[in-house]
Amino acid sequence: MGLREVEWQPIDLPTRLVALITNNRVWRSVFRFAYPSSDKTRALIIPAVFFLHIHPLKVSARSIRLTYTWGLGLFLFFLFGIETVTGILLAFVYVPDVGRAYQDVETMSTTVAFGALLRNIHRWGAHLMVLAVFLHMMRVFYTGAYKRPREFNWVIGVMLLLLTLALSFTGYLLPWDQLSFWAITVSTNLAGYAPFIGESLRVLILGAKEVGQEALIRFYVLHVMLLPLLMSVLIGFHFWRIRKDGGLAASNPLPRGAQAVRREGAEAPAAEEDDPPESAEGTLPMPGAGARQPEAPAGARAVPTARVAVARKQTLSTWPNLLILEIIAGLFITAVLVLMSMAVDAPLRDLANPDVTENPAKAPWYFVNLQELLLHMDAALAGVWIPALLVLALMALPYVDRDLSHAGEWFGTRKALIITIWSAVYTAVWTTALIVFDEKVGVRSIIGDPAIMPNWVIPVGVMVGLSAILYVSILPLRPSRREVLMAYFTAFIVVYAQLTLVGSFFRGIGMHLVEPWNLPPGGLSF
Ligand code: HEM
Repeated sequence: MGLREVEWQPIDLPTRLVALITNNRVWRSVFRFAYPSSDKTRALIIPAVFFLHIHPLKVSARSIRLTYTWGLGLFLFFLFGIETVTGILLAFVYVPDVGRAYQDVETMSTTVAFGALLRNIHRWGAHLMVLAVFLHMMRVFYTGAYKRPREFNWVIGVMLLLLTLALSFTGYLLPWDQLSFWAITVSTNLAGYAPFIGESLRVLILGAKEVGQEALIRFYVLHVMLLPLLMSVLIGFHFWRIRKDGGLAASNPLPRGAQAVRREGAEAPAAEEDDPPESAEGTLPMPGAGARQPEAPAGARAVPTARVAVARKQTLSTWPNLLILEIIAGLFITAVLVLMSMAVDAPLRDLANPDVTENPAKAPWYFVNLQELLLHMDAALAGVWIPALLVLALMALPYVDRDLSHAGEWFGTRKALIITIWSAVYTAVWTTALIVFDEKVGVRSIIGDPAIMPNWVIPVGVMVGLSAILYVSILPLRPSRREVLMAYFTAFIVVYAQLTLVGSFFRGIGMHLVEPWNLPPGGLSF
């Protein structure tokens, strides 16, 4: 029998391998759907997969532009995830006991495999999160994305901002070194200045009159349990509200003619037309998230809807357009953090010693601005009244600005941009001048008596006076209420940033002004 010629068949090994892995009951019990390859399956998979179902089927192209969000909310989400994972790993080594906490951190940095990297990632990640939460709040403010129906999500956001600060602050004490001990001592002293309840409040935070074992265990429990739990719940709520509010504010552009008539009472058009309004599923519609057009006041000409119609058409399917961006944001922020952590080690100074006061003893950088204020006015005013009023003002902001026009647009008008720049310059110049004046001349050396003058009357007078001048200076531009708010919000951000920079880099021994290169060793606030 002669040899038979066999036609050569190439074996497609990768395809066979994939089939071998995926073509069985175990795989299919976990991954119930094949990789979506058509528009229809890409849409169907979103509500069907647990990790995706928070997304709408489609998103507006405008809302996922990088220059709209700058990915900051996503960075925050991923940073929180990274902090959770690295924090859990660190907890395997760390014991919150004043007798060994410092030693544990040292062991982690020197002996445990990848321990130093892990600690660095956790530490720098916390700082990045504080920075990102402020930047995200600024992005939301300057794009007017807090307006109806998103006011309450802004309030949730303010709570998330406070939680981020609290998480970072409680973690600050845990290494139990001189930096952490004195930073927490200085910061909790601020709470002690609250009228009537100050001392009780301080004892409530510290569990004792001074920073010690009671404070360490309290901060630890708050840091690893209560605050992360609250944060997870609030982030979930924040995302759910974004979805129920009709996506991001940039999804709902108004036709130009409608800008002027879009006042309180008018409703925002829904963002994702293929994302059925809640009522379709039998639940109550969210006010303001319906698909109706804004109602023009009686007598107004019917508003052209062409631009809305065009914008609605510009929707993209979530898979892959949004999902790819999410993956890129996650990878990018992880890469930044890992590189940063490889380059710079987290500080660990000497073991905490209540008998050796650090000079300067600084609060963590995001509170050093309050410490800076404290140098110029009464402690209760700087440490309690001003921060409390600012938080209340931030929460009230969307309820004060009720004009719905320009939501989801950076600055909205050219005039608003001019006012913002003017306010930033005005505030920066005055803040610098006042800090230098108080250091070189000193209000107390001019009017020291009675003490109420330099402590309360003059600082409050200066703040109210400068705010009034800022208002009068923008009046010729005939600003809207939103533009006035922009001037004040910008002033707040500039003062916060400037006091942080001065407190962190320009305050040396005795908290006197020095050039950054003359700071004493350990003079930084982070
Ligand atoms: C840990 C804290 C936070 C996380 C993880 C978070 C996450 C997010 C994400 C992922 C988005 C989608 C758009 C984007 O990526 O920018 C978003 C939107 C939003 N966030 Fe946050 N956020 C946080 C804190 C805040 C804060 C401090 C505020 C304001 C005070 C805020 C107010 C809002 C509002 C109003 C929106 C809707 C914006 C729009 O419609 O354009 N969030 N947030």
